[in-house]
Amino acid sequence: SYIIYYNRIQMLQFKLVLLGDSSVGKSSIVNRFVKDSFDEFRESTIGAAFLSQTVTIKEDNQDVTVKFEIWDTAGQERYKSLAPMYYRNSNAALVVYDITQADSLEKAQSWVHELKNKVDDDNLVIYLVGNKVDLTIDNAEKRVVDKTVAEKYAEENGLLFSEVSAKTGEGIQQIFQTIGEKLYEIRRKEDATNNSNMANRARGQVDIQLPRPSTNDSTSCCS
Ligand code: GTP
Ligand code: MG
Repeated sequence: SYIIYYNRIQMLQFKLVLLGDSSVGKSSIVNRFVKDSFDEFRESTIGAAFLSQTVTIKEDNQDVTVKFEIWDTAGQERYKSLAPMYYRNSNAALVVYDITQADSLEKAQSWVHELKNKVDDDNLVIYLVGNKVDLTIDNAEKRVVDKTVAEKYAEENGLLFSEVSAKTGEGIQQIFQTIGEKLYEIRRKEDATNNSNMANRARGQVDIQLPRPSTNDSTSCCS
């Protein structure tokens, strides 16, 4: 990811990956965010899908545009081995479960575990999402995952958390807005550190920082 300065409009770009069991609504969440649409009969994703969309962060003296490059992975078990390719260089991960499917939370937790073990980036933003709240509005008994249980798990593991509906759109935009703000804050701190390193270098001290691998290679990952 990189920064472009253009007439005092700042643009930041980040990679975001969606993970979670098949049919929890990952593609539906992305489509609500990117196209503001919903499909009752969406087909299960094959391999992965790539989409992009921006959010705007209001700063005191300028707007900051955050562009997300989104990898929507396939939740079916046979595609599981592809996932590391998509989460490896990610800045953020949306880990999705369905509040009407108990085992989908367990699956989400195993993805969180894998991310924490395999992604070597202390700044990775992980957001746990409980989808399909619309189903429980008239049918409270359809809920099988208690909100407070998921919330507590998220808190204990340093995750962001909310319940949403891709169908009604409730809470969808807010997920990406929150992640954008969080990543912007992280980037600002990194820039401050880099600037102080440059000042130290002028005084003869150098902190070695290894660059992250390029995230611009879109040709190597989706066959
Ligand atoms: P894979 O691609 O197989 O990993 O599944 P997915 O997680 O991308 O799920 P997808 O978005 O394809 O949604 C699965 C089914 O759930 C579809 O029939 C959607 O219409 C439905 N669905 C998704 N989100 C919601 C929601 O918020 N509410 C309701 N009622 N149905 C939803
Ligand atoms: Mg899908």
